[in-house]
Amino acid sequence: MKVLLLGSGGREHALAWKIKESERLTKLYVAPGNAGTEEVAENVDLKVTDFEALAAFVKEKDIDMLVVGPEDPLVEGVRDYFEADGRFPDLMIVGPGKAGARLEGSKDFAKEFMTRHGIPTARHTTVTRDSVTQGVEFLERVKPPYVLKADGLAAGKGVLILDDLEEAKRELNAMLDGKFGKAGNQVVIEEFLKGIELSVFVLTDGKTYKVLGSAKDYKRVGEGDTGLNTGGMGAVSPVPFADEEFNRKVEERIIRPTVEGLRAEGIDYKGFIFFGLMNVEGEPYVIEYNVRMGDPETEVVMPRLKADILTLFEEMAKGQLEKAAFGQDDRYCVTVMLVSAGYPGSYKKGMEITGLENVEGSMVFHAGTKRKDGRLLTNGGRVLAVSSFGETMREALAQSYSNVGKIRFEGVNFRRDIGFDL
Ligand code: AMP
Ligand code: GLY
Repeated sequence: MKVLLLGSGGREHALAWKIKESERLTKLYVAPGNAGTEEVAENVDLKVTDFEALAAFVKEKDIDMLVVGPEDPLVEGVRDYFEADGRFPDLMIVGPGKAGARLEGSKDFAKEFMTRHGIPTARHTTVTRDSVTQGVEFLERVKPPYVLKADGLAAGKGVLILDDLEEAKRELNAMLDGKFGKAGNQVVIEEFLKGIELSVFVLTDGKTYKVLGSAKDYKRVGEGDTGLNTGGMGAVSPVPFADEEFNRKVEERIIRPTVEGLRAEGIDYKGFIFFGLMNVEGEPYVIEYNVRMGDPETEVVMPRLKADILTLFEEMAKGQLEKAAFGQDDRYCVTVMLVSAGYPGSYKKGMEITGLENVEGSMVFHAGTKRKDGRLLTNGGRVLAVSSFGETMREALAQSYSNVGKIRFEGVNFRRDIGFDL
């Protein structure tokens, strides 16, 4: 099977690494990829949203399967593009069409979807410039903190959580005035849920689903969950507090109604669903849907997956996922992200990375790296994810941290407390 994987982060390196294990694979391309994917695949210099160029490549190389890593191409309709006019009748695609991708592409759509299907989530209202008074009334009715979300994709920056009512009103207006561009033409205001966050990852063919695993990521840059929000500084899987009882509630109240709801609405969803959840005193609520895998969660979920992933994807694409067998490694897997100095603010690129050859007993997934004249250089805010297994979470963490210390680049930063709260 010839596969084209879209994306360039740690998530894509972990996916590429897993795909590379498959006996079904004959050739793997990653567009655009990074220095890590280059070790297991052939990188191709194509933009993930340049559908025309991607289609030409798929045709030229006779690609059998397109695996979409990030959300942008999905929300922009990469599946719809490839499916139009029956130009690629045999191409299997991992990732939903535009209609399904609205679960991530529009927070208002996601909230309304959950309301229609009785899926537990925070109470909300959605406002535009014309209905701002309704938003102000909602803010005055609920207790702080106040949660404001730009409706559209805002590169993970479109959510504000504010303690002060007057500030919340000001920010609401600023969002409607274009603080986050047109993503904020509509703003979802919702009640704050107090609890512990976790994520659950599912693969679905639109009829049935497989739960790939749970994970918890660490979004703040600083230890003790302080400082600015990042894409994620580390992750652990499984989540110790997600016990059997909690997982059963998640399946019954959230996963099943979501898959059934999509189907009932005539949305043929074939791909990943990332359930961002809040555990409120043992009861699960949906904070957000994503229509892709998480990053860095993929770097702990993929290593635990015991399956030939291309077979799993193929059965999904054929709509017969129920046939696919798969298991999970019982061990814990954790990852620690090494990031550039200054991230998530401004940071420099092009620092030389050394010491990777000394890493033992961990998997290093590249996030923002590139190779130039034989040297490995930093090429992003998040640089490397150091993932390890352990019989216990502590053991897995000790393994990752022992290797983190061997990797060097100027200004390297990482959190020293991944998993310590669990
Ligand atoms: P989102 O992009 O919707 O995942 O929101 C970003 C982050 O804001 C989440 O990961 C949560 O930490 C937080 N958050 C979003 N909505 C809520 C809510 N209703 N209650 C509490 N925290 C929230
Ligand atoms: N780590 C969170 C995300 O991928 O959205």
